[in-house]
Amino acid sequence: MSRLLVLFISICWSFSVVAGQAAVAMPDSYSAKAAAKVLEEGGNAVDASITAGFVLAVTLPEAGNLGGGGFMLFYQNNKTDFLDYREKAPQKAHRDMYLDDKGEVQTEKPLYGILASGVPGSVMGLWQAHQKYGSLPWERLVQPAIELAENGFIPHKKLQAYVQEYLDEIEAAPHGRNFAKYFAALTGGQRFKQPELAATLTRIAKQGPKDFYEGETADKLVSFMQHHGGLISKEDLKQYQAQWRTPLQKSWRSYEVVSAPPPSSGGLVLLQMLAMLSDKIDCLEDVAHNSTRYVHLLAELAKPAFADRAEYMGDPDFYPVPVQKLLDDAYLAERAKLINPIKISETEAIKPGLQESENTTHYSVVDKWGNAVATTTTLNLSFGSGMVVEGAGFLLNDEMDDFSAKPGVPNYFGAVGKDANAIAPGKRMLSSMTPTLLIKNGQVQMVTGSPGGTTIISSVYQSILNRVLFNMDAQSLVDAPRVHHQLLPKNTIRHHPKLDKTVQDGLVKMGYTLDARRFGDLQVIVRDADGALAAASESSGRGLSMVVETK
Ligand code: DON
Repeated sequence: MSRLLVLFISICWSFSVVAGQAAVAMPDSYSAKAAAKVLEEGGNAVDASITAGFVLAVTLPEAGNLGGGGFMLFYQNNKTDFLDYREKAPQKAHRDMYLDDKGEVQTEKPLYGILASGVPGSVMGLWQAHQKYGSLPWERLVQPAIELAENGFIPHKKLQAYVQEYLDEIEAAPHGRNFAKYFAALTGGQRFKQPELAATLTRIAKQGPKDFYEGETADKLVSFMQHHGGLISKEDLKQYQAQWRTPLQKSWRSYEVVSAPPPSSGGLVLLQMLAMLSDKIDCLEDVAHNSTRYVHLLAELAKPAFADRAEYMGDPDFYPVPVQKLLDDAYLAERAKLINPIKISETEAIKPGLQESENTTHYSVVDKWGNAVATTTTLNLSFGSGMVVEGAGFLLNDEMDDFSAKPGVPNYFGAVGKDANAIAPGKRMLSSMTPTLLIKNGQVQMVTGSPGGTTIISSVYQSILNRVLFNMDAQSLVDAPRVHHQLLPKNTIRHHPKLDKTVQDGLVKMGYTLDARRFGDLQVIVRDADGALAAASESSGRGLSMVVETK
């Protein structure tokens, strides 16, 4: 082939888009339809994501939120950008705040009730994203959420069941949660209205973050805290700012993989595992998707990455996370040598490598100009702390559990940590949220992300492998059974129940303990070779994906 022809083909590849096409992949139908409408009206991917963020605060109470935080990853006007609106520890928080007299962690305290919440970041995050990149008016973007809160929405059966389960759990162990007062009515299946939340959203539509961080909503939140003995103060809210950060980026095969920097561990662990996998690619060539050998290899690759996570990762504003060193090619080539492709390596032998010192939600949007936004947002566990701010109608997060309450003691997700992720006033807790983009020749080829605590990283990782190594279409790649290993608990692989039975038997024979439990809810957009977009939501959830033809 002549050089000119090659050049011509690669130009066609890099600029092939289907004119006017945009796409959304959302965790429920209300957010999908509202975001698609914004795109049809000429809004960009950021506008659509802001609308989705507010709608989810109404229709996906287990994770969509005003009282939580998140990360937004952008590809806007051919540049990447990242907004960190993760919650922060209140000023009155301190390192040992969850330990009892004997120095043991009181595990329920950072998870349930009034002491579990960090200072919420979502309203500020959505606002700052709008200030920098939004094109339609803010009020227009908040409006769909106001309508759904005011006029109500018909809850999906899965949501009704989910709320009922949570109510049963609260009845067995209340931990001070006032959730039932606000959400018991949702289980009946009738139109569910949230008048206090509608009023809060109306104030946010008119006044932006001023209301939430300094105005009437702030007053309601602070008096709720004072009444129940919580820590978040007026000063905490007033000082809260979201943080623009440089996303992590690393070349992998023919793509640029762009992902979340600290205070997420997601991008670092993902890029480490991809790089180490490349180092082992020769042994992968003859390994079939989701075979025993493949699953074992993924488990081995997770070990050194999770050992580094526990030792070095935390809020970069408080702790010098050695990002460059952790992503250094020579370092990762050395780390890849720890991986045994045919046998389980000793967990105790996998140490951090440098020489020195269940509910979240994700949504993906691509607009007709090729801009993309990947957003992961969370209250931490489903329905967060289970505490609804009285008079303001929104749930507060239980993100404090993502800190390491005591060195080496696992949190809810079994993650351990040390100094890097110890509690300190104003500090952000380490996250696993991994909104990620794959870019080739200046064009977004894949937008991916998922909920699932530490399993988020595995879901995102395997969505990428399914696409790039196994060439799966959008729906197949989100629905293929996935696996997760995180160094500890030792030799334990969590897997989707549909993982092939003979593969499960093979793993047990190798010495693994299996934990058959679903995790994740991938929301993915990909661009096919002809430039057309395809979008998919994992079938197990209640998501909806749409390719939108705009003018
Ligand atoms: O930021 C994190 O890593 C966790 N708070 C996410 C929690 C989560 O995904 C729960 N979902 N199933």
